[in-house]
Amino acid sequence: MKRIHIYIITILGLLISCKKETSVKTNNALENKVSELLTKMTLEEKIGQLNLRGTSSRVKGSLPEELKQAVREGKVGAFLNVMNKQYVDELQQIATTESPNKIPLIFARDVIHGFKTIFPIPLGMAASWDADVAKSSSRVAAIEASSFGVRWTFAPMLDIARDARWGRIAESPGEDPYLASILGKAYVEGFQGDSLNDPTSLIACAKHFIGYGAAIGGRDYNTAIINKELLQNVYLPPFKAAFKAGSQTVMTAFNEMNGIPASGDKYLLQDILRKQIGFDGFVVSDWNSVTEMIPHGFAKDEKHAAKIGINAGLNMEMTSQSYEKYVKELLQEGKITENQINSLVADILRVKFRMGLFENSKRAQDDSGKLYTENHLQLAKEAAIKSSVLLKNEGNLLPLNKNKKIVIIGPLANKPREQLGTWTFDGDKTHTKTPVTTFQQNNVDFTFVEGLTFSRDIAENQFQKAINAAKQSDFIIFIGGEEAILSGEAHSRANINLPGKQEKLIKELAKIGKPIVLVIMAGRPITITNIIKDVDAVLMTWHPGTMGGPAIYDMIFGNEEPQGRLPVTWPKVAGQLPLFYNHKNTGRPASSKEFVHINDIPIGAWQSSLGNTSHYLDAGFTPHFPFGYGLGYTTFEYTNLTLSSNVLTNANTLKISVDIKNTGNRKGNEIVQLYVQDVVGSITRPVKELKKFKKISLEAGEQQTVTFELEVNDLKYYNNKMEYGVEQGDFNIWIGKNAANGLKETFKYE
Ligand code: NOJ
Repeated sequence: MKRIHIYIITILGLLISCKKETSVKTNNALENKVSELLTKMTLEEKIGQLNLRGTSSRVKGSLPEELKQAVREGKVGAFLNVMNKQYVDELQQIATTESPNKIPLIFARDVIHGFKTIFPIPLGMAASWDADVAKSSSRVAAIEASSFGVRWTFAPMLDIARDARWGRIAESPGEDPYLASILGKAYVEGFQGDSLNDPTSLIACAKHFIGYGAAIGGRDYNTAIINKELLQNVYLPPFKAAFKAGSQTVMTAFNEMNGIPASGDKYLLQDILRKQIGFDGFVVSDWNSVTEMIPHGFAKDEKHAAKIGINAGLNMEMTSQSYEKYVKELLQEGKITENQINSLVADILRVKFRMGLFENSKRAQDDSGKLYTENHLQLAKEAAIKSSVLLKNEGNLLPLNKNKKIVIIGPLANKPREQLGTWTFDGDKTHTKTPVTTFQQNNVDFTFVEGLTFSRDIAENQFQKAINAAKQSDFIIFIGGEEAILSGEAHSRANINLPGKQEKLIKELAKIGKPIVLVIMAGRPITITNIIKDVDAVLMTWHPGTMGGPAIYDMIFGNEEPQGRLPVTWPKVAGQLPLFYNHKNTGRPASSKEFVHINDIPIGAWQSSLGNTSHYLDAGFTPHFPFGYGLGYTTFEYTNLTLSSNVLTNANTLKISVDIKNTGNRKGNEIVQLYVQDVVGSITRPVKELKKFKKISLEAGEQQTVTFELEVNDLKYYNNKMEYGVEQGDFNIWIGKNAANGLKETFKYE
């Protein structure tokens, strides 16, 4: 067993040394303001600060007197979904002039991938591997949303997702902790802007803490079982990155992890979040997740749930009102203490002070000119191009020649609402540019026959019309996938193929013999094994947002190339899930030498006469497309992988370089990926882990040397004793185009 180096710190050590991992600083002047205000507050007001009221988004007519009165009495700390600007102004006015201590409210909203201008879904944004795009998209969202009074977004979602059945994979940053961390930081920086007290700053909310994406079977809200090693090495890193970037809030997950619902998990909310990480903002529950500890079988009633939430350190209760109803009683009975309440309230006040709300709580006035601006729309288009992943391009079918006759077929070719994707309450579909409207505006000579009216459609009555139109054309562009409602919260699927009769229609069209481009708009990877041979090109655009049409137009005709790379492993069949590239090797790793397909097993074969390795008899062991995969319109050659040394120590940094040449005949983009494997560990290590990547752009024929620097910190991990460090021994290193490809070298850490 290898020796763990001296910077190993056990969790216990961390608790004692209080060496926090986050650089969020509290300053004394701020803490004094918080304590001074606390001393003036009544218990009712303190309880009020813990209350996030989830009402009013559908309120018609005037603002209900009951709400105004609650604010007047200081019984509400924040609101979600108040989307009427006058109500925002009125409620804030009451809070800051009539409530006992004039404490301002915070208005929250799920501003997930845009507010009015909708960007690609977060899984799509993750496919861009581009922190700048993530940051600018969230800045745009903040500028638009703050004009409606929103100052708090429930984003970014940083749940690592390894199972495409899970509907909320659409909102996730994918399966890789390193990529997710880079994106998490970028989103927080974009939402929060340069200063929290800027009226266009939205405080971020890293969610869902934690393990929501590890729902067993990919079924939403399901139990997660995550050991400490996985928690620290896979699920926590993106959250840590968000906190380091200054995320002021965090939301607890709906799920239980290892038997404890997240909203009642003291270990998570205190030992990990406050003590290990040093987070000093506030924790909000998910929607009713405090009282949902009752059906979880963890609390016997609302009062018990409130007690558990308070004792766990959960600051603000979203929508359910168990704190409001029972905190007083719990205090009287000595089941919780006023010190606990003070500390929970202080965390909220600290954030309100940082947001500058006590000085200026006015809504960023005048939204004219802030919504759907030319600049916002251009950024949304750029994001859609950078997110789109070209999965197949047989015979370089794409880009298409505009002068040929084209037929567009498919249920998502002209669906302004559907291409926006999940979580787009505020996006106005009348602003959406679909592929069909864009082709029309650009005077492309094309015919459009829907073929199926929605993605789940099983009626075949338009098939013949589509086939006839296809026969008259040179190329078929089939735009299908999933409607927005088929992914997102509570929308998990057991089969993740193209729903309805889409596969059947594609097969009918393939019989005509014309080249087919399949454009997929979906919230998750879609299994296309049944139809991959029937189509010549496959372009995955995820749900691309408001500007999906112009982005697709530019990519199809080659004004731009698709630039995305998969942020998740793409399965052949749902039965392979969960599937992720950074898995462990097992004692019997799968290998093509050993693998025998189910159809090749001789009848009556002896039980153990065939390769006993970790695979499926029918689906093998490889995905359809690996993590990091994506084609462009040119080709790149990787040569000459060179390490500055074959030994890494605590004192040096490895410089790793590779020559990359654009061997095609047009300019192109490449995302160069560096993976590492720690060959032997005191606990088993993943077969590969992404450690670095760089996006480059090369002219035809151009060559560039790309250099990465790798240091000891990049290799550290937590073992199952919660020791953090790196162990002496051998490492493999790859630089390549994706997780299944690359030039390989080795080095030692000494
Ligand atoms: C439930 C979702 O899980 C969460 O992500 C969201 O922010 C809240 N509802 C509020 O809408």
